[in-house]
Amino acid sequence: MSAASPWVARFAPLAAPGPVLDLACGGGRHARLFAARGHAVTALDRDPAALASAGGPGITTLQCELEGEGAVWPFGPAEFSAVVVTNYLHRPLLARIAASLRPDGLLIYETFALGNERFGKPSNPAFLLAPGELLAHAARAGLRVIAFEDGAVARPKPAMLQRLCACGPDFPSQKALLDPA
Ligand SMILES: C[S@@+](CC[C@H](N)C(=O)[O-])C[C@H]1O[C@@H](n2cnc3c(N)ncnc32)[C@H](O)[C@@H]1O
Repeated sequence: MSAASPWVARFAPLAAPGPVLDLACGGGRHARLFAARGHAVTALDRDPAALASAGGPGITTLQCELEGEGAVWPFGPAEFSAVVVTNYLHRPLLARIAASLRPDGLLIYETFALGNERFGKPSNPAFLLAPGELLAHAARAGLRVIAFEDGAVARPKPAMLQRLCACGPDFPSQKALLDPA
């Protein structure tokens, strides 16, 4: 799959200048989208073959195992102006992902939700979000929700998805609202 998700493409222009993380990047479709917009992108995955496809101008690849014993979260707090995660869920990372966002950062998340088992894989509930789960996560992390969807989609193939775009407290549009001058 190489075309960017329409959800990610819709919100990518909101990201403030600065570094972007594409977490569990696979072949790097979103790493390329953000690099083309002038961001320095870190594209992380555990799969070297995926990373070989994800590399390119403006993209630094990072091979990293995010789960299991010995897994290390390789980023500090407030590093990224945007983090994008698609088609990947490991719940223990949600708080770390949010902490890695700068206060003006943007989180764009899209992955499968309960009900997807009717359409195919993934069907293991461990990999499927419960209703409203990403919203609750954003609230816990102190992020402001810009947009959220939770339901069935027809394209690129029938699936049950949750999609979130949320930002930190210093996100430019929030500042503009508070201080229009
Ligand atoms: C379904 S693919 C999604 C790829 C990409 N985000 C996209 O939507 O095009 C899931 C990716 O997560 C990576 N992944 C799965 N488990 C991982 C782990 N424990 N640590 C790092 N990467 C992982 C896989 O290697 C795979 O590239």
